[in-house]
Amino acid sequence: MAKSTSKLIIQGGHRLTGRIRISGAKNAVLKELAATLLSKERVVLANLPHLKDTVLMLELLADLGAKLTFLDKRRVAIQCESLHSTTVPYDLVRAMRASIVVLGPLLAAYGKAEVALPGGCAIGARPVDIHLDGLRQMGARIEIERGFICASVDGRLKGAEIFMHTKTVTGTENLMMAATLAEGTTVLHNAAQEPEIEDLAKMLNSMGAKITGAGQATITIEGVEALHSAEHSVLPDRIVAGTYLVASVITGGSITVGPVNIPSLGNLLSILERAGAKIRVSDDMVNVSSEPYLLRPVNITTAPHPGFPTDMQAQMMVLNVIAKGASEVNETVFENRFMHVGELNRLGANIHYSQRTATIMGVHKLTGAPVESYDLRASAAMVLAGLVAEGETEVTAIEHLDRGYEFIEEKLSAVGADIKRVPLD
Ligand code: EPU
Repeated sequence: MAKSTSKLIIQGGHRLTGRIRISGAKNAVLKELAATLLSKERVVLANLPHLKDTVLMLELLADLGAKLTFLDKRRVAIQCESLHSTTVPYDLVRAMRASIVVLGPLLAAYGKAEVALPGGCAIGARPVDIHLDGLRQMGARIEIERGFICASVDGRLKGAEIFMHTKTVTGTENLMMAATLAEGTTVLHNAAQEPEIEDLAKMLNSMGAKITGAGQATITIEGVEALHSAEHSVLPDRIVAGTYLVASVITGGSITVGPVNIPSLGNLLSILERAGAKIRVSDDMVNVSSEPYLLRPVNITTAPHPGFPTDMQAQMMVLNVIAKGASEVNETVFENRFMHVGELNRLGANIHYSQRTATIMGVHKLTGAPVESYDLRASAAMVLAGLVAEGETEVTAIEHLDRGYEFIEEKLSAVGADIKRVPLD
C-alpha cells in the first residue's frame, strides 16, 4: 500500500460536542461494488463513502472493463456489459485484501477468474480456504498458480450445501454472490451474520436474486439465470459511528451521530452505558454524553456478529486505558490484533498482553507523543488517544486510516477537536 504523504497533528484535551454525519459502510460498499459484476445491466449505488478503498474497488472494476458514470458525488452507475478481463493483479490485492470478493461474482458471471492470492497482513494470517472450498463444492476448478487463484467452471456453478468451519465475512459474501447465478439451491451453514451481509443480500434481492436468511447462521440462495438493474443505498458505517461515539465518551463530550442502523450497533450502546455514558436514541440518530473522570472500565471479548466487533476492539481499549480500574480485552477473531498496544503505552497507557488477552490498568492521563499506525482500526485508536492525551500527538502512517474514515480531521474539527493534516516533513 502506498505510504501516506501526510500525518495528523492533534492537540488533546478538548471536549467534543455537536453532530457527525455517518457515511456508507466500507465493509458493505466494497462487496456491493463487486456485486455489480453479476449483472449485465446498469446498477446504481448510492451513499458511497469517500474512502481510499472505495476508489480502489472502482479502479478494479474499471480495469476489468466496467463502465462507471458518476451521477453525483455519492452515487455511481456501473455497467458490466462487456468486460475485457477477469484478472485481478497482485498490486490491487496487496493494496486492498477485500479485492478477493470479486472472485465469486466473476466466476459465476463469466465462468472464470484469476485473482492474486492475498497474503497475511498486520492482524493475522487470514487464509481464504473457505472461499475456495465452497466454490469447489459448487463445481469450480481451482488451482493456485504463480501466486494467483485460477478458477474456472464449465457452464454454470451448481448449488451445494456448504458447511463453513469458521464464520467468515468475506467468505460468506463470496459464496452468497456466486450462488445467486448457480443452477439450483445453495445452503450456507455457519454463515457470518454481520449487518453488511444482510445489506448485500438486500441489494442482490433487488437485482432479482432469491436469498433468504442473510443475517442468520443459515443462508439459502436459490440460483437464477440472470440479475437485472437496480439502485441500492449503502448501509451507514456502524464501526465509524462507534468510533465517534467512543471519541465523545472519552473526551466527556456530547456528540450525536447518524444516520445509523441502530440494531447494527449490537451491544456497543449497552457497553458504553456500562462504562458510564448516557445514551439517547431517536430514530436513526444516537447521542452520547459522559463525564470522563467517572468512566468505568469494561471487559470486552470480540466475536463474530452479534458479538462485540473486532473492528471496535482498539477503540474501546482507549476508553479502558483512561477509565478507573482494571480491565481485560480478549481478541478471539484475529490472532495478532494488538499492534496498537505498544503505541498506546508510548502515550502513557499501562497495558500488558499475552497471546489474545490484554490486561489494562487505567491511568490518570496520557501524554502526547509521535505514534504510528499498523492497521485501520489501530490508527483510529491512535487518533482517539490523541484527543485525550495532554499536549501534541503526531499520528503517522495514516494511509491505513484513509482506507476507512472519510474526512476524519474535518469531521472531528467540526465538533471541537484540534486536529489537522499536514505534509510529512
Ligand atoms: N478465516 C479462515 N478461513 C477463511 C476465511 C477466514 O480461517 O477462508 C478466518 C480468519 O483467519 C479469521 C476469521 O476467519 O480468523 C474471520 O475472518 P473473516 O474472513 O471474517 O475476515 P474478513 O472477511 O477477511 C472482514 C472485514 C474485516 C473484519 C472481519 C471480521 C471486510 C472487507 N473486512 O474481514 O474488516 O475485521 O471481517 O469482522 O469486510 C476492518 O474493516 O478494519 C477489517 C479488518
